Amino acid sequence: VRSVSVAVIGTGRAGRVHAENLARMRNVRLAAVCDPLLDEQWVSGVGAAHVSRDADEVFADRAIEAVVIAAPTREHLQLIRRAAAAGKQIFCEKPVAFDPAGVAEAVAAARDYGVMLQIGFNRRFDPTFRRVRERIAAGEIGEPNIVHVVDRDPRPPARAFLEGSGGIFRDLAIHDFDMVRYLTGREVVEVYALGMTLDGSAPGEVDAAFTTLRLDNGALAQITNSRHAVYCYDQRVEVLGSRGSVAAGNVSPSSTVVMSAAGVRRDAPFEVFSERFAQAFAAELHAFVGSVAEGREPEVGGADALAAMRIACAAETSLCERRPVAVADSPLCHPKDDHQKEEHHDHRRQPCAPSI
Ligand SMILES: NC(=O)c1ccc[n+]([C@@H]2O[C@H](COP(=O)([O-])OP(=O)(O)OC[C@H]3O[C@@H](n4cnc5c(N)ncnc54)[C@H](O)[C@@H]3O)[C@@H](O)[C@H]2O)c1
Repeated sequence: VRSVSVAVIGTGRAGRVHAENLARMRNVRLAAVCDPLLDEQWVSGVGAAHVSRDADEVFADRAIEAVVIAAPTREHLQLIRRAAAAGKQIFCEKPVAFDPAGVAEAVAAARDYGVMLQIGFNRRFDPTFRRVRERIAAGEIGEPNIVHVVDRDPRPPARAFLEGSGGIFRDLAIHDFDMVRYLTGREVVEVYALGMTLDGSAPGEVDAAFTTLRLDNGALAQITNSRHAVYCYDQRVEVLGSRGSVAAGNVSPSSTVVMSAAGVRRDAPFEVFSERFAQAFAAELHAFVGSVAEGREPEVGGADALAAMRIACAAETSLCERRPVAVADSPLCHPKDDHQKEEHHDHRRQPCAPSI
């Protein structure tokens, strides 16, 4: 495979993982890392050919073929527009924007300039979850009818991140909405969400939620999210079908078991997303670079981002209006007037969340 020249825009938690993975790949030249607040110490170790505080320098560099966008979510859409106009192939972290209109605009920009847009739904590339998908696709459990997804963070991210995250459905559960679509190959038609606030430090922020989904074949999915699973980064799926079930549990750094009179003790599962999904983060970039090098469609693209964001918005409507919501009917999925447009809608506030 030919070599591809890639820049990383935004080098916080996610961007560093991406830059370090790219730096290790044989068919990649890490052409630049770009961040207005560069961490000099980290930069000196990563081995990028150029270092920049201004994304315009990346877009102007004709030797750079592709960009990985890992800036905060509020920056994604404008960066995608500019990257597409500069003819760069694009990998963008999830979520692409804060509402379906924003995602659709990003997809249109990529299409209009004829560039690829791959989305950072990294969990599709996790070997365990991929195996679940393969077993289902091979028909081993028959037709799936119930899906359970557990997605819990050990602790909330930094408050500054939370406030710009778009809330639990757009930021966290969006992975699970994508996972349900990925595992079943089905679309979600109806959503019922309940949420609560366990930690009052980010006002209005729902930090635990149940979301029930109905799929287009009548199957049901249940997602449980929390930002307070004190024991680990808890990531599990189970799919029940007409002929059996398939499940994937947590992954631990080692399989060591200590047995003593006090009991049996094993390692806790991974606590940090970049460790639990280390293989997935590397594999999604391998796929991206491979698609760029060979001119292939991305494995996970704009249509997937749009579908997941429509579900997230329907979940938020459901939470606020305390009723099941058809994805096709969610007002947030169809911004009709100005106050619902991205810049006017305050995504931080979810005032309908009861606190306990
Ligand atoms: N796929 C995953 O599992 C996963 C995990 C974490 C974060 N994310 C996503 O990645 C994105 C970044 O999240 P994070 O946790 O790394 O955030 P972060 O706050 O740790 O890092 C963001 C970085 O972007 C920089 N930045 C701000 N504006 C910029 C601009 N215009 N151009 C370039 N850089 C800019 C900031 O200085 C900061 O260093 C978010 O969209 C988030 O949802 C995805």
